[in-house]
Amino acid sequence: MSQVLPTGSIALKQALYFGGDEDLKEAVRVAIMSKYSLESMQEVPHIWPDDISLVLIEFNQNGDAVLEQVNQILTLAKGVPIYVLLKHKDADFIIEANHQGVQGFIECPNEVFTILSILHMQDRRRQGKNGNVSSFFSLKGGVGRTALATNIASHLTELTEGRTVLVDLNMPLGDTALYLNMEGQRLYSLTDFIYNLNRFDENLIYKSLSRHESGLYLLSLPTEVSELDNLNGELIKTIIQALRRYYDHVVIDCASDLSDLTLSCLDESDNIVLVAEPSLSSLRAVNTAIQITQKLGYLRESLKLVVNRSTSHDDEMLDEVVDAFKVDTVARVANDYLGFNNSLKEGLLLKQFKPQSVVNQQLNNIANMLHNGSLRLDVVPESPSKAGGQNLLKTWFKKLNRPGSGSKSDVKPGNLKTAEAVS
Ligand SMILES: Nc1ncnc2c1ncn2[C@@H]1O[C@H](COP(=O)(O)OP(=O)(O)OP(=O)(O)O)[C@@H](O)[C@H]1O
Ligand SMILES: [Mg+2]
Repeated sequence: MSQVLPTGSIALKQALYFGGDEDLKEAVRVAIMSKYSLESMQEVPHIWPDDISLVLIEFNQNGDAVLEQVNQILTLAKGVPIYVLLKHKDADFIIEANHQGVQGFIECPNEVFTILSILHMQDRRRQGKNGNVSSFFSLKGGVGRTALATNIASHLTELTEGRTVLVDLNMPLGDTALYLNMEGQRLYSLTDFIYNLNRFDENLIYKSLSRHESGLYLLSLPTEVSELDNLNGELIKTIIQALRRYYDHVVIDCASDLSDLTLSCLDESDNIVLVAEPSLSSLRAVNTAIQITQKLGYLRESLKLVVNRSTSHDDEMLDEVVDAFKVDTVARVANDYLGFNNSLKEGLLLKQFKPQSVVNQQLNNIANMLHNGSLRLDVVPESPSKAGGQNLLKTWFKKLNRPGSGSKSDVKPGNLKTAEAVS
């Protein structure tokens, strides 16, 4: 059984498609369905429909007809982003369409699969923003941060056509090289990067980072721990800012602490991915992390919660607790001990080892969510119960909601549902 989790109040955006190639239309519909619903049109309507966020127009041979449509649309709906689906490349047409106000071009069929990423990155660049930064964070260790960061980064590599870098900041001994089976190699480290920071041009930066066979770039920790002594928060920010100028997505495996270095990472992040397990101690740690991020003034929208090792029997109690965190975007990753452990033993990523698995699909969905804001998040499999510890969870949850309960976690009662609601 599969289930799509609600993702707060976000609704699908509306896109219009002009063109008669049914196969292409269907491919585009599928490629953008997690963010847009697509309506097909043959001609530009006299009255422009409300709430259109995107227009896609096919171009094959007849450039004049497409330019005429672009003209009409921009007269009716100033500022609506128009993208042309190029079934055929014609430099004169591209120059003229660009001149008329078309925002971008998608080469068909090659780029249809990554269309959301292309739209997203073009939009960011237009707003003067650089690549996305997603930090995987938890105050409790061992919850799956590295396993998720590494595998999700590999999906992001596909989405960004190779412009994703994974940065290991889980000091002093990160595991990303282990998960990527790159431990034996001479890896470029943070200190090499800092050393070269002022000398980098675009070509050099790509050549000066290690690369996994999947195309994912890796910036690892130095093997010599003493090299970390000179790292500080400002330097970390400089590194992240440099990376996001060249990469569409920067994924960071953070340490389980609130050091200056970790907070500097979170400061620079578009997505703070809080990783949790369905256990009392892990959920308490998430609660604390949320309180701290709010005190530090991070945008609530940047928080994304991933409940790792979920089973279908984690039950309503867990749902209540997760709801109470008031994080809009919640994704679940199924418990797949064999998948994770055997892929690690084989030195493979999950998408190589078990491409058809539910877990791999979930990780891919999360990558899309982090990169494109896609809404399709979860695929939760049916599996046997392991719902021990629910009573403890219940007791903790009640305590959290009791004013003056002495809980160290400093939760504002307004942030949580009442204990009665769950007992
Ligand atoms: N969804 C999952 N199902 C089953 N096992 C998982 C899942 N996610 C992670 N694991 C396993 O849990 C263990 C811990 O994962 P991982 O090393 O990623 O945690 P971590 O949070 O990075 O830990 P640390 O604090 O040591 O850095 C690993 O053996 C990993 O294979
Ligand atoms: Mg780790």
